[in-house]
Amino acid sequence: MSTPSADGLEVVDLAREDLPEAVGVLARGMRDNPMHVAAFGNDPNKRRRILERLFGALFRVMVAQQPICVRREGRIVAATGVAPAGSCQPTPRQGLALAPAMLAAGPRAAGRASRWIRAWGARDPGEPHVHLGPLAVDAHLQGQGIGSRLLAEHCRRLDAAGEVGYLETDKPENVVFYERQGFETVDRADVIGVASWFMRRSPRATGGAS
Ligand SMILES: CC(C)(COP(=O)(O)OP(=O)(O)OC[C@H]1O[C@@H](n2cnc3c(N)ncnc32)[C@H](O)[C@@H]1OP(=O)(O)O)[C@@H](O)C(=O)NCCC(=O)NCCS
Repeated sequence: MSTPSADGLEVVDLAREDLPEAVGVLARGMRDNPMHVAAFGNDPNKRRRILERLFGALFRVMVAQQPICVRREGRIVAATGVAPAGSCQPTPRQGLALAPAMLAAGPRAAGRASRWIRAWGARDPGEPHVHLGPLAVDAHLQGQGIGSRLLAEHCRRLDAAGEVGYLETDKPENVVFYERQGFETVDRADVIGVASWFMRRSPRATGGAS
């Protein structure tokens, strides 16, 4: 357990019992991302509900996940999924377990979402990598440095372990956010009509084990 820093933010592993709170933060924070609008339609409340169901299923089914969160005054203000090397793509069994949450979005949305997820999955690097996401700061708290703190802790862990980081994103302003901490764009594609960036980060020498 870490102690909060001067800004009151504490970046910690997400406890299993806090998953519902973190999933709420992720669903609110990512509700308006272009990919989610393209996949799930124009109704913001519907998008949030679909994302809550999908992220809930993701963390329940993808058991290797090691999510991180940021807390302020005891509340979760940001969260991210972290898939350790070799665990980011669902096995056939995990794919089946995820299907009901996807289908609950409705047949057309589920079709668009599966095209999106297949297109991103097809670009997954062949090399071992730690896969970041979904990542969000709660909707009303973005732009205050919270996401940078979360990403810095993720990158610190990558460097300490000497591991490659990888992620996908759908907003140009996010590309700048990730570049600041050493991610580089390795591919770009239009996926269900939405620009996607694929980003990789090499580990930096830390000068000793942490
Ligand atoms: C992307 C995100 C995690 C960044 O965290 P944050 O706490 O808002 O960002 P910080 O304050 O630490 O850093 C600010 C930088 O983030 C980027 N940024 C991306 N989205 C932003 C937003 N909605 N508000 C403010 N900055 C944003 C900009 O590059 C910004 O730099 P600038 O201030 O020089 O323009 C957060 O904005 C978010 O949750 N966005 C919506 C969901 C999302 O896109 N998640 C990432 C999916 S890959």
